[in-house]
Parts: sequence; structure tokens; C-alpha cells
Amino acid sequence: MPQVKPSDGPVAVTGASGHIGSHVVRALMKRGYTVRACVTDESKPEKTAHLLAMNSGVYPGRVELRTGNLLEQGSYDEIFAGCAAVMHVGTPMGYANVNKPRQIYDGAVIGTLNVLESVKQAGSVRRMVYTSSFSAIAHPAPRGYVFTEKDWASDNRGKDPTWTPESIDTNGDVAYSMGKIATEQMAWRVAEEDGRFDVITVCPCVGLGPLLSRAHELPGSWQYFLGRMLMGKPCGRGWQHLWNIVDVRDVGDAHALIIESDKCKNGGRYQLTAADRSGELNAAELQEHLARLFPHIAVGGPPKQYEEIVAKYGHPYDAPRAYCDRAREDLGLTSRPVDDTLFETGRTMIELGIVKPAFK
Ligand SMILES: NC(=O)c1ccc[n+]([C@@H]2O[C@H](COP(=O)([O-])OP(=O)(O)OC[C@H]3O[C@@H](n4cnc5c(N)ncnc54)[C@H](OP(=O)(O)O)[C@@H]3O)[C@@H](O)[C@H]2O)c1
Repeated sequence: MPQVKPSDGPVAVTGASGHIGSHVVRALMKRGYTVRACVTDESKPEKTAHLLAMNSGVYPGRVELRTGNLLEQGSYDEIFAGCAAVMHVGTPMGYANVNKPRQIYDGAVIGTLNVLESVKQAGSVRRMVYTSSFSAIAHPAPRGYVFTEKDWASDNRGKDPTWTPESIDTNGDVAYSMGKIATEQMAWRVAEEDGRFDVITVCPCVGLGPLLSRAHELPGSWQYFLGRMLMGKPCGRGWQHLWNIVDVRDVGDAHALIIESDKCKNGGRYQLTAADRSGELNAAELQEHLARLFPHIAVGGPPKQYEEIVAKYGHPYDAPRAYCDRAREDLGLTSRPVDDTLFETGRTMIELGIVKPAFK
């Protein structure tokens, strides 16, 4: 499929209000696209003000708000009409347990099927980028194993009692991984059968970086736990393994680079992860970085029993290790240094009033 440029028509972004979606919108705005930013409710300023603020003249593009619901057939038919590309970022997430595991799975699969039907209906869309997740890649693997785009979360599951179809109703992590796998493969199949557009998938790992809205705090997310560390509280997530960090600004850029690339083809897949070992931190290392970046804050760290756990089971599992080499080589993606990512996450959380720092 020929690559897309701003003069070819608008680009629609589902999940535009979200943390990743907002950075996809911003990356497109920087390049001069007209962006149809799809939200679930245009009348909620807490979800849309930061998107409309991008129209202030700083960027050459233009944002237009549109309301759509992934779970309603035909909801995006009018929105996608005339669009050159679609960035399908939105999905019902499991943050704060607002969605049950089955809703997470169905939201991915059925929501994307509805998006694909609207893409077909539009007839103008040449490329769709689907925001999958590293959860569709990571599988049980030996310490230090380096994952690539060839890996699937369904690999090496022979002895894993949780990896069953029944778990989709009970286990949010499995429902999320299985939903992302099923959706990536379905989207490529539908595009192949249709022949008028292609689908490229991206698989971000731990997305951190500037929050553009208070709504991006997302209880249970990576940024939520980083914020708690700046409040001097223990890190309740991700202390048993590595945080393999990718900047959400780089994730936004990768989406935009994909629609403009002449190297991408239907079935293409890009893991968006650390560029090198500097972006793979365990919670104790994360704490050290934050303490250096925010010297006036008494930064919290791994839970109290951490040393006991390390003594008993060893250091945090050396996983997941993965590098975004393919995105860097094919798309020319540049990765921001991890300290910039961590600092901007913390700075924006403090400035937005989400985090009250534990000053020394
Ligand atoms: N953040 C990460 O580290 C990370 C890592 C890997 C993959 N991802 C993927 O990136 C995408 C965005 O995640 P995020 O972390 O940025 O989460 P988020 O901020 O919660 O964004 C989710 C978005 O989905 C939209 N949405 C939910 N249900 C919808 C529905 N029924 N109809 C239409 N839109 C709906 C939400 O819209 P409203 O706000 O308008 O309700 C929101 O904009 C997801 O596909 C996720 O799997 C994220």
C-alpha cells in the first residue's frame, strides 16, 4: 500500500483521550495531519480539553473531536469516511478493575472487528495501525531471554494452568494477552481478505512519559506506581521483574512513522520497548533513578519485605528483555533516554496535581 501523507486526508485515532492515544494525536499534529480524535464522550472536558488545546497554533495539524463507541457496530462509519489512515489505540482496559476480564477480551476482539468493518465501509483508508501490547509477545522464558516480534504470548504455555480459554472469564492478565493476540491476527486476516488496506501492529511494553491530562493517572498503571514512589510510598507493581520502559512520545511517533513508511506491509509487527539495557530497570534501580532526578523528594521503593524476598528467591527476574531494534531500523524511530522519560512522567504528575511529593 502507498504510504500516507497529510494531504491524503484526515487520520482517525480511537482512544484519543487516553495516555497513549493523546501522544499519537500529538505526533500526528506535529506532522500537520487533520486528526479525527475519537472519544467516548465529546462533552467531557476532563477527557478532551488537552486534545483541543493542541489547536492553539503550536502544531501545524488540526484536531477534530468525534464521538464513537467501539462496542457499537457502525459507530465509526461516518468518522472514518474520507480518512487515509486509522490508528486504533482505544480498548476497554483493566485499570482499577473497571472492566471484567471478559469485557477486556471482548472489547479488544469485538471492538476491533467493528473498527475493521468501518474501515472497509469507508473505502478510503489505506493503512490501520493497531495498538497491541507487549503482553501479546511475552511468554514464559528463561532468565535473560531476549524477546522479538517473532514471539507470541501463547508460546511455551505447555505447563501453564492459567493459559486456558476459561481464564478469559477469570484472569484479567490472560484475557488481555489472549485478546491482543486474537485481535492482531484477526486484523491482519481481515485486511488481507479485503486487499484495500493493510494493518500493522505495535506492541508497547511499559509506557511512561509525560501525562497530558489528569485523566492519565489511571490507577494501577505504570505511571500510577511511579507517582506513588514520588509520594514516598512503596512500589506495589513491577518489583519482581524489570520495567522495560518505552516513552509514550516514542510510541506516538512510531504510530505516525508507520503510516508514512514504505517499508511496512500487512502483517508487520513492531515491539516498542527499551532501546537498550539502560531502559530495563528493576524497582530498586528505578528508585535510584528517581532519587537522582528528584533530589528533594524522599522516593519510595520496593516493598518492605523486598530484601527477604531477594534472600529467598534471588534478585528480580531478569525479564522481560526486549529492544525496539526493528522499529529503529525500519521506521527510523529514535528512543528518548530513560531519565528524560522518568523525569517527564514525574514532573507532569506533580504539575497536574496528581502527585503530592514527599519532600525531604
Ligand atoms: N500504557 C501502556 O503502558 C500500554 C502498554 C501496552 C499497550 N498499551 C495499549 O495502548 C492502548 C491505550 O492504553 P492506555 O494505557 O493509553 O489506556 P487509557 O489511557 O485508558 O486509554 C484507553 C482508551 O480507550 C478508550 N475506550 C475504552 N473503551 C472504549 C469504548 N467502548 N469505545 C471507545 N473507546 C473506548 C478510552 O476512551 P474514553 O477515555 O473516552 O473512555 C481511552 O481513550 C491500549 O490499547 C493498550 O492496550 C498501553
